[in-house]
Amino acid sequence: MQVYLDNNATTMTDPRVVEEMIPFFSEMYGNPNSLHKFGTSTHPALKKAINQVYDALNASDDDDIVFTSCATESNNWVLKSVVSDLMNGSRKNHVITTEVEHPSILSTCKWLEEKGIKVSYLPVNEQGIVEAHTVKNFITDKTAIVSIMWASNETGAIFPIKEIGEVCKEKDVIFHSDAVQAIGKIPVDLQDVHVDFVSMSAHKFHGPKGVGALYIRDSQFLTPLLHGGEHMGGRRSGTLNVPSIVGMGKAIELATTNIEDTMAKIKEKRDRLEDAILEIDDTFVVGDRQNRTPNTILISIRGVEGESMLWDLNNDSIGASTGSACASEDLEANTVMLAIGADNELAHTGIRLSLSRFTTDAEIEYTIEYFKKAVKRLREISSSFAKQQPTEGGEVQECELHHH
Ligand SMILES: Cc1ncc(COP(=O)(O)O)c(C=O)c1O
Repeated sequence: MQVYLDNNATTMTDPRVVEEMIPFFSEMYGNPNSLHKFGTSTHPALKKAINQVYDALNASDDDDIVFTSCATESNNWVLKSVVSDLMNGSRKNHVITTEVEHPSILSTCKWLEEKGIKVSYLPVNEQGIVEAHTVKNFITDKTAIVSIMWASNETGAIFPIKEIGEVCKEKDVIFHSDAVQAIGKIPVDLQDVHVDFVSMSAHKFHGPKGVGALYIRDSQFLTPLLHGGEHMGGRRSGTLNVPSIVGMGKAIELATTNIEDTMAKIKEKRDRLEDAILEIDDTFVVGDRQNRTPNTILISIRGVEGESMLWDLNNDSIGASTGSACASEDLEANTVMLAIGADNELAHTGIRLSLSRFTTDAEIEYTIEYFKKAVKRLREISSSFAKQQPTEGGEVQECELHHH
């Protein structure tokens, strides 16, 4: 059996999505900007895809959805606009974000800092979220934008986006949310939340890779990242990726229709897996279940290095993930776990399991069995290894040991 439990990294493209995309490679391959019928024949499908995204998010007709190549692009686009906004005469040179954002936000913020922008990286509490009152305390009259994720890719923690949106509205500050890990996992209603920009990515909800979108309430603040042939009303140039856009439309529709029922089923499986893992001594799950995306578990197993666990599970054909990377020279702790207050040892033991609507009961049973076996084996090895290598360097070697 093969079990894929890394759905927060990417998902299988739903076969119904693939089917919908195929004609746009081979039959209706025209450029939508061309005036002949090869081009114009793609228009109804593009319009349908846009409407599918609008409907899935309950966006208003006055708002915009611009397709991009991925959420990384959408995040870069919004944040880099702070610099052009400054050059256009704005005096706002401050950005608020969190310590636990995806690298597409954090690396862009580092770049902004090099350009002279001040960035506040808000710490999260032990539940892995930032509360609205904390955001409020950091807003000044120099704050250009608040960028806070809707849900965490690592822990699944769901941020209080509605309350943060209210604070930003009250303070008249632009609010962007990276909703990559929320869309298709929890209901996202853009009429209910005051948010100016929302980033999303199709491959996280069983759509194709290489297509994302940015929801835009008011485009005045944005400067195009890609200049060119004035596609998408000049906001994002580049010939439209018609098959992928069509696929994204279908995928978001499938992922958000009956989301409560689908997620209840996933949550039931997730909770069963989580309960079984928690039967193992000295295991900890990050964040409470109710305020977490229903497919995600970030688990710590004291004494078992996350990378080792990952490779052991991989040997049993279970695909999981860890935030701590076994770099060639050193082991990095899971930064999100450090941010939520885990000690250094625990932050090396994070392992993330993320389910999807395609995860079966049999896969959960198989995972429970092999997960327990892996922990037992690794704890045995790790204790004998610790006796031989009592120094700090032991962790690095332990990681290498299990790599090979
Ligand atoms: C929270 C979050 N933001 C952004 C991204 C980047 O998405 P993409 O692969 O579409 O660039 C990811 C994907 O890992 C993510 O989990």
